[in-house]
Amino acid sequence: MKALGYTRPLEIGEFKTALTMLDVPMPEPAEQELLVQVKASSINIDDIHFAEGTFFGGIYPSRASIDKPTVAGVDVAGTIVKAGPGVAGFKPGDSVLGFMMPGSGRGAWAEYCCLKSKLALHKPAGYSFAEAAACAIGGKTGASAVMCAQAAAGCQCAVIGASGGIGSIVVQILAKQGIHVTGVCSGANKELVLSLGAEQVIDYTKGPFDSQIGGLQMDAVIDCVGGRDVEAQGMRMLKKTGRFVTLCGPEKYIGERKVGKMGIAAMLGYVLWRACITSIIGPRYIMGGLGSSLEPLQNLVLNNAIKPPIDRRLSFNQLAVREGIAHIGTHRAKGKIIIDIAPA
Ligand SMILES: NC(=O)c1ccc[n+]([C@@H]2O[C@H](COP(=O)([O-])OP(=O)(O)OC[C@H]3O[C@@H](n4cnc5c(N)ncnc54)[C@H](OP(=O)(O)O)[C@@H]3O)[C@@H](O)[C@H]2O)c1
Repeated sequence: MKALGYTRPLEIGEFKTALTMLDVPMPEPAEQELLVQVKASSINIDDIHFAEGTFFGGIYPSRASIDKPTVAGVDVAGTIVKAGPGVAGFKPGDSVLGFMMPGSGRGAWAEYCCLKSKLALHKPAGYSFAEAAACAIGGKTGASAVMCAQAAAGCQCAVIGASGGIGSIVVQILAKQGIHVTGVCSGANKELVLSLGAEQVIDYTKGPFDSQIGGLQMDAVIDCVGGRDVEAQGMRMLKKTGRFVTLCGPEKYIGERKVGKMGIAAMLGYVLWRACITSIIGPRYIMGGLGSSLEPLQNLVLNNAIKPPIDRRLSFNQLAVREGIAHIGTHRAKGKIIIDIAPA
């Protein structure tokens, strides 16, 4: 079968030129796995980081080789062809969405993939395959972050990176719950973020965002960008009882560089230290979006028919997807980039 991937560990910046259309054996579903004909996938910024061995500063080195190529991609939307032993709740012909384990080397940018049934959900009828692929890991991450924020109707919540793949889902979940949302993005994306349900938009290119909200105090800030400057500004916007939920931690655009074992230890130490100290003095600092439970995705995203904006749709060929990778690497995507792998 055809699959997009790579046959050696890549250097930083190489993924967008080294991604290749491969001919690989058709996978066979193991226990608790579903063989899925992939209809659509998406490009996540972390697909680059896994390929280039920089995920979370280099926590998973790439192991791709000529004998064992890595198929890229995480998000899956498609149709079940075969259920492996022990699968319950799914059958051939069902339409599903889900995600491949990041860093496993068994990716979704392929005609077929073996999806773990615990990482799969039935695709709601109101979602196209492209829309479902757009919601998989981004929806899981965004919905988990919202749960960590513990904001209720009437609360004030800011979303940093509000026009991106995850931020655009987070804004919609919060607005649907009657939470007042302030989106932080560049001015070019103001109308998009307002259309998703934000009540106001702050342009981070015009100076520190905490100085642009006129003294409004937030109950929660959800950070989809990372970095200590973003943290400092986000913390200043919060009430003492508020929560700063970061998907990225102290490193802006985490995964763009290798930081070495000491660097990874320092980042983890920082996250733990901030979480401990702020649980006493507030506002609380929380690393969010982690874990693989699909309940938040089902309950907060799919049940509410939330769909991120689609930046662009690409054909399943190496040149188109290479261009998509280059675009997502600029951090300027407006929502999700979709790869159409097979006709619906
Ligand atoms: N914790 C987890 O489990 C987990 C899971 C998945 C992903 N992540 C991480 O979550 C992050 C977000 O992912 P994503 O898919 O949403 O990324 P994305 O689609 O690339 O998001 C880009 C967004 O960030 C905004 N932005 C860029 N620079 C900014 C800055 N300096 N200040 C404020 N906003 C800025 C952009 O706005 P403009 O274009 O308007 O500038 C755009 O809205 C990634 O770093 C990823 O590694 C974490």
